[in-house]
Amino acid sequence: MQSYQMAQGVTDNTISLMLGHPDPTTLLTPELQTAINRVLASPKPYQSLQYGAEQGTPGLIDYLVAKINREQASSINSDQLILVAGSTQAVDMIARLFTEPGDAVIVEAPSYVDALHVFYDHGVELYSSPMDENGLIPEDLEKLLKRLQAGGKPPRLLYTIPNFHNPTGFSLCLERRNEIAQLAERYKFMIVEDDVYRDLIFEGTTPPSFLTLSGETMSIGSFSKTLAPGLRLGWLAGPSEIIERILHCGTIEMGGGANPFTAQIVAEYCYLQYWEQHIHYLQQLYCGRRDIMMAALDQYMPRNITWTRPSGGFFVWVTLPENIQARDVKQQAFERGVLVSSGEGFFVNPTQGEHNLRLTYSFAQPEEIKVGVRILGEIVRKLANFAR
Ligand SMILES: Cc1ncc(COP(=O)(O)O)c(C=O)c1O
Repeated sequence: MQSYQMAQGVTDNTISLMLGHPDPTTLLTPELQTAINRVLASPKPYQSLQYGAEQGTPGLIDYLVAKINREQASSINSDQLILVAGSTQAVDMIARLFTEPGDAVIVEAPSYVDALHVFYDHGVELYSSPMDENGLIPEDLEKLLKRLQAGGKPPRLLYTIPNFHNPTGFSLCLERRNEIAQLAERYKFMIVEDDVYRDLIFEGTTPPSFLTLSGETMSIGSFSKTLAPGLRLGWLAGPSEIIERILHCGTIEMGGGANPFTAQIVAEYCYLQYWEQHIHYLQQLYCGRRDIMMAALDQYMPRNITWTRPSGGFFVWVTLPENIQARDVKQQAFERGVLVSSGEGFFVNPTQGEHNLRLTYSFAQPEEIKVGVRILGEIVRKLANFAR
């Protein structure tokens, strides 16, 4: 057996409160093995190892369309969804096919660091709009839209993570979703909704996605957070003419649909109703982890530190006082074997994140979360004394 490297920066002796990866113990379940075995034991198992249909494995497309329509009272058709190799490929394709270098794209402040990187790869100009605990603020977004329009640079896209946002953990409330949908119509930009955490809800209800609220939406989902990221499988739903354009792009025509072999396994897994059960299990698991992290932060952090309490997803956003630099905390934590992200990379203007840390509770085990947060608390206290 070839050796396999552990996730980025992680060794046996580190505690990762940095990775937005699923708990490794949830990945290779007996149910997933059953689905794999069923595909291998099917009458023509080699078929899913051929190039696949451009739009993706039909059974999985139908399953996802039915799930979206059932859960969100929407009415999309099967020609409105394409399988992709994870949300990452969808963001990359959207940036490549629907923007030109120099175009304006709006993102949240803060936003997902790797998505910013993908957009920069395509030479677009990023502008950011602030958010609070109810998500992106429509009034500020409109001010930015007016400014860009007046400057002759109306934005092509708004990239948003409306549910259990990475990095803050916040969710966008329904009223604001409606207001932003109206802005999209008025100012003629597409909403790119990266909704990979939608199913990982712990409490309350999730408002309908932009897909339901606005015809100007490209909505991205993924199996990475609720099944396994190594499958490299997700989907993109939107207007049929957008999906049609993607279907005829060079990379799809050349390589065919996304990961036919894993898509066949996942289709099998879904039709056996294993995914629904697994999502339910993950909701309980990560809710418990969130609570462990909240309790540890309460116990170990000094009073002048604040943090968010997500009602789903993987992330907690910590705000440090002005006299403590997040990068110092990150470095000292690293020296003590604890990995965290400092806030700079999540902003178009990195100085905005100098006093923020992003913590995750998805990858580390409960005891590691407690130890990791205790060590962070000690570092922060020491730095605060030093900074006085
Ligand atoms: C908001 C967001 N989008 C996309 C991804 C990556 O998704 P995928 O594995 O489907 O490419 C992540 C992973 O951290 C994420 O947080």
